[in-house]
Amino acid sequence: MIQPWLLADEPASFWFPEQASTFAPEVDFFFHAVLWICIVFFTLIVAGMIYFVWKFRQRPGYQGSPEALHNNTLEITWTVIPTLIVVWIFVRGVYGYLDMMSPPTETYDIEVKATQWNWSFKYPNGALSNDLHIPINKPIKLIMRSEDVIHSLFIPAFRCKTDIVPGRLNTMWFQAIKEGSFDLYCTEYCGTKHSLMQAMTVVQSQEQFDAWLAEASKPPEDPIEWGKWLYERQGCKGCHSIDGSLVVGPSFKGSFGTSMDMSDGQKVTMDEQYIRNSILNPQSQARVNFAAKINQMNSYAGKLKEEEISALTAFIKSLK
Ligand code: CUA
Repeated sequence: MIQPWLLADEPASFWFPEQASTFAPEVDFFFHAVLWICIVFFTLIVAGMIYFVWKFRQRPGYQGSPEALHNNTLEITWTVIPTLIVVWIFVRGVYGYLDMMSPPTETYDIEVKATQWNWSFKYPNGALSNDLHIPINKPIKLIMRSEDVIHSLFIPAFRCKTDIVPGRLNTMWFQAIKEGSFDLYCTEYCGTKHSLMQAMTVVQSQEQFDAWLAEASKPPEDPIEWGKWLYERQGCKGCHSIDGSLVVGPSFKGSFGTSMDMSDGQKVTMDEQYIRNSILNPQSQARVNFAAKINQMNSYAGKLKEEEISALTAFIKSLK
């Protein structure tokens, strides 16, 4: 049966998922070591209890000892052996933890944005994706932030998981050792669609990854789509909404072609030239009510090409 919550091509299994990162063998070894220590001691203790209950049962002609007996050898043995085991678990656990907490100095860094209920991954060249794409055999560092509530990023096949707490950056690192696609989940209850907050981790060879990244960073050809693509990547989105709500600057929705009151008392129609001038020289014109915020926008002169400004204009025009 195919389970809907398994996105990747991993076979569903009762056992652990495959070991796809450098952490996985150590995590699995340690988990099984602790599990077997527990199984062995549980069995010994329960068997001993049953044996003694039977051996010292009340029966005709049996006289129990009136006081508890003491045996130094036994006391020392069952104190020292468990202590050594617990110390071994602690020390090995600390080393494993430090390894997971200390990324190598050279890492490939990907920014992660968690929102209700979506993952967004941003690569060093600005490309965005909803699935996590990474090259194999390379240390990867995720720099993660939440836009709303607490989330947690978990890749079972990598055996690593880190909470993403709003108001700070959380990081985690790993190195994939297997190509393929692996599930990625949110594992911190974050609202009604928490269970749908999942994505894929796609591990590829460096060449395949580079090809994917080049494709993912290519802008769409349609001017409106291209404008939207720029709007999301060039920082416009942070201050200008497209749904009419007020963030910092005026919303783009339904603004094209309207007549606007400017802070100097003039009336100006929002047209192609107005948009171009706002992008390249934002301080030269301010709408009434926005004069105090005008310095929050930096000029995009030299950062956007003419064709890109046209694409943004096409996008703003399309927002009726
Ligand atoms: Cu995000 Cu659960």
